[in-house]
Amino acid sequence: MKLLVCGGAGFIGSNFTRLRLREQGDEVVVLDKLTYAGRKENFHDFADDPGFRFVHGAIEDPQAVASALDGGERGGRSAVDAIVNFAAETHVDRSIAEPDAFVSTHALGTYTLLEAARERELRYVQVSTDEVYGSIEDGSFTEDSPLRPSSPYSATKTGADLLVQSYFHTYGLPATICRGSNNYGPYQYPEKLIPLMILNALHGDPLPVYGDGMQVRNWIHATDFGRAIGQVLEHGAPGEVYNAGGPDECPNIEVVTRILELTGADDSLIEHVTDRPGHDRRYSLSSEKVRALGWEPRVRFDEGLGQTVAWYRENPWWWEPVRSGDYRAYYERQYGRSLA
Ligand code: NAD
Ligand code: TYD
Repeated sequence: MKLLVCGGAGFIGSNFTRLRLREQGDEVVVLDKLTYAGRKENFHDFADDPGFRFVHGAIEDPQAVASALDGGERGGRSAVDAIVNFAAETHVDRSIAEPDAFVSTHALGTYTLLEAARERELRYVQVSTDEVYGSIEDGSFTEDSPLRPSSPYSATKTGADLLVQSYFHTYGLPATICRGSNNYGPYQYPEKLIPLMILNALHGDPLPVYGDGMQVRNWIHATDFGRAIGQVLEHGAPGEVYNAGGPDECPNIEVVTRILELTGADDSLIEHVTDRPGHDRRYSLSSEKVRALGWEPRVRFDEGLGQTVAWYRENPWWWEPVRSGDYRAYYERQYGRSLA
């Protein structure tokens, strides 16, 4: 297939692009604004692939979207078959501190892409999150569960999902939505729980656990989520939503303890800090519907976490510029202390 992957310079989008180039032989144009979370380093191993193009631009900019759909700077190629939209502001803590970009990227950006897909009659996949359903004490959310988002991040992602569904109902746009649970794996920006804790443990920095640390997340490896999105893209029914949850659930404090074991750091680094406002207690997804399309998660959490710790250990070239740049100022604002 020929794909326009929006937000492909980020964590999951770059893992997805790598899979599609390597496993499916697709041609991929990435459109990305390169916010703090989007990095060309994430393309280091496929930047020169003949099937890959990069266009620097925002999804809310119709000209950038048109240029990317026409094949990017080198141009002259036939139009793409589908748009897969990963582009988003993705960190809940940042959405609490500064919600503006969440509203514009998720609302205006998604709208601009949907208009482009409608005009050119393209297939469209919206990458979404379990957080649109809110928190669940027992059991798992299905695609029919009510939408009860609780943070500015999840509320604006929900708004984008509803807009996507409206384009199917109103204009017949062949759009699908794939909602993933918490992802982990290589190339994840270190503001998120797992890479933050790995890098802090490797540097002897305290590990800031919010509240009691008993919040539960349903972990999925980014390659498993990428393959689920691929199944939805190729086999999903237009207008439908598909949940893709990981095979394992784990309370945060256990994730942190396993990271301490894997890095050989000391338990005394754990520091319970003030809880996140409005913190969702538990996420859990039922993935029966995407399994019926032939998808199965391949990576269990224990194995994937070990591989992820090893990747961060072996690739300081990737995280050193982040940890010595703007991230330091973010960390000080968010945690009230500086990094070692
Ligand atoms: P990320 O923050 O690592 O990457 C987001 C990418 O989008 C970056 O490359 C950034 O530069 C780009 N971007 C942001 N605003 C843009 C704009 N206006 N125009 C163009 N590009 C823009 O995020 P991620 O973790 O890779 O998440 C990707 C998608 O998957 C998001 O839609 C997110 O909601 C969804 N998701 C994430 C998780 C998770 O655990 N990380 C779980 C489920 C769903
Ligand atoms: P995060 O990686 O931000 O993902 P999400 O909020 O989308 O689930 O956080 C995962 C869990 O880890 C969440 O319950 C909040 C918690 N957490 C901490 O305890 N400390 C931290 O420093 C961070 C970033 C997260």
